[in-house]
Amino acid sequence: MTAVRRIALVGLPGSGKSTVAPLVAERLGWAAIDLDDQIASSTGRSPAAIIATDGEARFRDLELAALEEALRRPGPVVIACGGGLITQAAARRLLTELCTVVWLDASDQLLVQRVGDGADRPMLGGSAAAGMPVLRSSRSRAHQSSHLRIGADEPPEAVASRVIAALEGAVRVNLAERAYLIEVRAGALDDVMAHVPAAATRVALLADRAVRPVSERLTASLRSAGIATTVLEVSGGEPLKTWTSAGDMLDRLGAAGLQRNDCVIALGGGTVGDLAGFVAATYLRGIAWVNVPTTLLAMVDSAIGGKTGVNLTRGKNLAGAIWQPRAVVCDPDVLATQDDRSFRSAFAEIVKYSMIVTTTLATDLDGQLERLLSRDADALTATIRECCAIKARIVASDEREGARRAVLNYGHTVGHALEAAAGFGDALLHGEAVAVGMRAAGLLSIRTLGCPDGEIGWQDEMISRCGLATTSVFDPERVLGHMRADKKTVGDRLGWVLLEARGHPLTGQQVPEAEVRGALEAVLAQ
Ligand SMILES: NC(=O)c1ccc[n+]([C@@H]2O[C@H](COP(=O)([O-])OP(=O)(O)OC[C@H]3O[C@@H](n4cnc5c(N)ncnc54)[C@H](O)[C@@H]3O)[C@@H](O)[C@H]2O)c1
Ligand SMILES: [Zn+2]
Repeated sequence: MTAVRRIALVGLPGSGKSTVAPLVAERLGWAAIDLDDQIASSTGRSPAAIIATDGEARFRDLELAALEEALRRPGPVVIACGGGLITQAAARRLLTELCTVVWLDASDQLLVQRVGDGADRPMLGGSAAAGMPVLRSSRSRAHQSSHLRIGADEPPEAVASRVIAALEGAVRVNLAERAYLIEVRAGALDDVMAHVPAAATRVALLADRAVRPVSERLTASLRSAGIATTVLEVSGGEPLKTWTSAGDMLDRLGAAGLQRNDCVIALGGGTVGDLAGFVAATYLRGIAWVNVPTTLLAMVDSAIGGKTGVNLTRGKNLAGAIWQPRAVVCDPDVLATQDDRSFRSAFAEIVKYSMIVTTTLATDLDGQLERLLSRDADALTATIRECCAIKARIVASDEREGARRAVLNYGHTVGHALEAAAGFGDALLHGEAVAVGMRAAGLLSIRTLGCPDGEIGWQDEMISRCGLATTSVFDPERVLGHMRADKKTVGDRLGWVLLEARGHPLTGQQVPEAEVRGALEAVLAQ
C-alpha cells in the first residue's frame, strides 16, 4: 500500500493528540482510536493511576499491547498515542513501519498553559513549567523519527486541517524504518519546514538558479523558522553531475558549518537532486536531506527511491549511493516555468511506467495527454501521484536493485548509451534518450519475446504524441560501442529489460549483438 491508511499522532502532553485525532478521523471518514482511552476502558484505571501504583514499565507494556491491537484493526485509522509511546523502541518500530507518524509540536509555553499545573501528569514530575522542557529534550530523538511535523499552536480544527492537507494525496514509500512521504499538491512548497529535522539548526539549500524566485521563497520561510540557511546556487543540467561539483559542494557544506543533525535540501530537477542526495549521503558519512523536485521528470521519477550520484567519464551515474531522503515535496505549481522540451522529456518515464506495470496510467495517457501536455493542474497532480505510487511500490519491494527494481531500467540500456554518445550534454535530454531506448527495447521485445505488436505500437505512438520523436544523429556502431563499454560496468550486469507483454517485464535478458544492431538501425534511422 502506498496511500496513507494509518495516521499516528504523537507529541508532548497538551499538544492536542486526543482532540485532533477524532477531528481528522471524522473529516476523512476513518476510525479514531485513543490508546490512553483504550487502556482506561480495559483496565478501569487512568494511565496516571496505573503508573502511580504499578510503575511506568507496566504502563508501557499495556500501551504497546493497545497499539498492537489498534494496528490489527482493518480499515483506515487515526491513532492518538500516549506521549511516551514513541520513546519505546518496539513501539517506535511499529509506528514508523506501519503508520504515518505525525508529530504535533506546540511551544512549551502553550503546552504548559494547556496542561495546567501538571499535577495529574506523572511524567512532568509534578510541575508542568519545570517538567515540560526536560520532557521535550528527553523525547526529542524519538519525536524526530516522525514522518511529518505539524505546528500545533493553533486551535484543534486548524491543526486537523493542516494534518489533512499535508497528507491528502501523499504517497508513502514503505521502507520500514526509512519510510517517508512524498507530498504532491499545489502549495506544498510552503510546508517544506514540516520535513526538516527539528534538531537541525542549519540547512544547505542546493538550488537550481533556474528557479531563483522559488528558492528565495523557501529560504525566507526557513530563515523565519530560525534555521540558518546557506544557499548553494547551481546551474541544473547533466554537466552539473560531476565528481568535481560533488567535492565543491561538500567543501561548501563544511564552510557553512553543517553538523551531523543538519539538513540538505535539493531544489531543482533530477540533476540537482542526484547531486544533492549524493552530497548528503557522503557529508559526515550521511546527513538528512529533503528533495524538492522542480521538473516533471524529477517529480515522477528521479526524486523517488534514494538513488543518488554523479557521472564518471566512463558512463552515467557510476559513482553514487542509495540514500533515502526524509521526504519528497512535489508542488506542481513550480512546473509553470519549465521549458517545454524538458517538460515533455518526462513523458518518456511516464510512458515507461505504463509499459512495465499494469496501471490506469495508460488509460489516462490515452484520454488526457493533451491536458497533461498543456499542464492542466488537476491532470498533472493526479498523474504525478500515480507515478510516485508506482515507483514507491517498486522501490519498497527492492530498495537496493535486485531484479524487481531493475524493471525501471526498461529503455535505459540504449538510453544511457545514447547519453554517453552525446557526451552528457544538453544535446540529448535523459527522457529523450530513454524514449529512443524504449523504441529499441520494444522492437527487441517483439522480436525476441513475441510481445504483441499492437502494445509496442501504442508505446511508440505515445512517444510521438509527446513530441519525443527519434533522433537520427547517432551512428548505431557508436552507440553499440558505448553499450559494450557500459556492459563491463557493474550497473549493467543485469542485462536487458524486455516485455513479454505490456505490464509483464522480464529482466536480465541477454540479447545477441546482431539483434541489438538490427533494432538500433531500425530506430535510429527513423
Ligand atoms: N536518481 C534517479 O533515480 C533518477 C531517475 C531518473 C533520472 N535521473 C536523472 O535525472 C536527471 C534528469 O533530470 P531532469 O530532466 O529534471 O533534468 P535537469 O535537472 O537537468 O533539469 C532540466 C532543466 O530544467 C531547468 N529547470 C529545473 N526546474 C525548472 C523550473 N521549475 N523552471 C525552469 N527551469 C527549470 C534546469 O536548470 C535544467 O536546465 C538525469 O541526470 C537522470 O540521470 C535520476
Ligand atoms: Zn530514467
